[in-house]
Amino acid sequence: MGTTNKTMATKDAVKIHEVVKYPDPVLARPGLPVTVFDEALKTLVAEMFESMYVAQGIGLAAPQISLSKRITVIDVSFKKNPKDRLVLINPEIVATKGKQVEEEGCLSLPDIREKVQRAAWVKVKAQNQRGEWFEVEGEELLARALLHEIDHLNGVLFIDRISRLKRELVLMKIRKMQKNGEW
Ligand code: NI
Repeated sequence: MGTTNKTMATKDAVKIHEVVKYPDPVLARPGLPVTVFDEALKTLVAEMFESMYVAQGIGLAAPQISLSKRITVIDVSFKKNPKDRLVLINPEIVATKGKQVEEEGCLSLPDIREKVQRAAWVKVKAQNQRGEWFEVEGEELLARALLHEIDHLNGVLFIDRISRLKRELVLMKIRKMQKNGEW
């Protein structure tokens, strides 16, 4: 039925990936660098954005969809500002400044929120979907999102950045939820 239907069909074709939860081993494994910048990568990035939005997240890293690759997408304004949509492939931290301590969450650790210390400002270099290098700077929430997602690409979760005692409490909570079939 005309254009509307066609648009819907195209939209429906975007595959939504399931986000894996801790302690899936893929989350602890460093991702492999991306070397091929092709149409399949563009499709994957589009799928990652949609999967992130469906999961109500502002950042998603490829290991979270069981793909051990150095790809992450971020949108700190959650669809409100198109300029906030970031695709970072093979990202590297270039510089950091200061510190901030704020509560953090993760799609792979639903219902867990803890205060995490991060740099207040960060400069990151990364490749875009065409393989071109670019730099992005962020402070506050964007700095936190950049550092959190790059951690994922190195097999690190935010619960690896809190005190041993707090981590033990988080793991106890997770075990309890697992036992109740809530995880
Ligand atoms: Ni996360």
